[in-house]
Amino acid sequence: MSTAYTNIRPALDASEAMTLPQQYYTDPAHFQREMEAIHFDMWLCAGRTNQIPNAGDYFTRRVANASVIIVRDEQGGIRAFHNVCRHRGTQLCKQESGSFSGSIQCGYHAWTYKLDGGLLRAPHMEKVEGFCEADYPLNHVAAEVWDGHIFINLSAHPIPFSEHLAGLDQKFRPWRMEELQMVERRVYHLKANWKLVIQNYSECLHCPIVHPLLQKQSHYMSGDNEPPQPTYLGGRMDLRDGVKSLTMDGNSIRCALPGLSSADERHVYYYCLLPNFFLNLHPDYMLTFTMWPKAADQTEIVCEWHFHPDEIAKPGFNPNDAIEFWDITNKQDWELSDLAQAGISSKGYQPGPYSNREELLLALDRFVLERTQGRK
Ligand code: FES
Ligand code: FE
Repeated sequence: MSTAYTNIRPALDASEAMTLPQQYYTDPAHFQREMEAIHFDMWLCAGRTNQIPNAGDYFTRRVANASVIIVRDEQGGIRAFHNVCRHRGTQLCKQESGSFSGSIQCGYHAWTYKLDGGLLRAPHMEKVEGFCEADYPLNHVAAEVWDGHIFINLSAHPIPFSEHLAGLDQKFRPWRMEELQMVERRVYHLKANWKLVIQNYSECLHCPIVHPLLQKQSHYMSGDNEPPQPTYLGGRMDLRDGVKSLTMDGNSIRCALPGLSSADERHVYYYCLLPNFFLNLHPDYMLTFTMWPKAADQTEIVCEWHFHPDEIAKPGFNPNDAIEFWDITNKQDWELSDLAQAGISSKGYQPGPYSNREELLLALDRFVLERTQGRK
């Protein structure tokens, strides 16, 4: 899983283009700084609208020490709240997903909230002078939807979502992602810093060495990257002649997604919308990853495979060729990320030089420095 890099760029200055010092990957204080400056400030992809089709349906997500409930409200809108009771702070939902029957009730003293977050009932508070339910709604988290993907933002003043997407909504409109349905989810637990996952995703120099199957179907030097953008890093690779999609044998009996140009039926797009969403668009399916940092050296990745409903409805529909392909490739990448973490955490680690084909990695490092220290 990685993008190629084939643009001719000016040579990097070796003295500046070095990997980050050890503490950026190991220090809990730096990790918390990153969470505040990046993950709690930017739009995060939380999941898909079709995970919560009915009023009251919800799922929860945890990023570092923040737990968030994402819920479908009575009007069909998507809302997000901190998963924290306004009485004495107890976590409201333990489950990863479920359905509220009309309201959200705290299991401790039964403070009860509407699906829009408003406080409905607060037992034992009637006699407290000056207490007013309206003063204690659930703490709101901003939520927006892009083509079926739900994004949340924990900042009190999020940048407009359209600014974050920076035109990707136009670029990927032909894939009609909202229509696609998830048929498989796999959750992976990495012993690696979240930045190592993006770095691994952003270069394919390792592909011929580590991903023989991927290399057979899509040459690591094919395609091109976009110049790094403030909110995303991305590019595409080309399928080799005769290959229809990234599957175990390079074949696919599925039709290409409706609306794709014949050129896009020959490409796979790899985009990382910073800081937690990876979007792999194949001719006949979409693969998404959402990444949830847990600690400086621990990251959870939720990987989902999405297909067109017309294909799912066909007798003989079998997504295993795509699931197996990426499960194998993912595990190869996660092992590398874990090994990178192990080496970087070791006493002998020193920052090393980037090549000219690792410019997206340098762009990520600069993004992190700029956000956490206000410098490039
Ligand atoms: Fe939630 Fe008391 S802590 S009702
Ligand atoms: Fe890879």
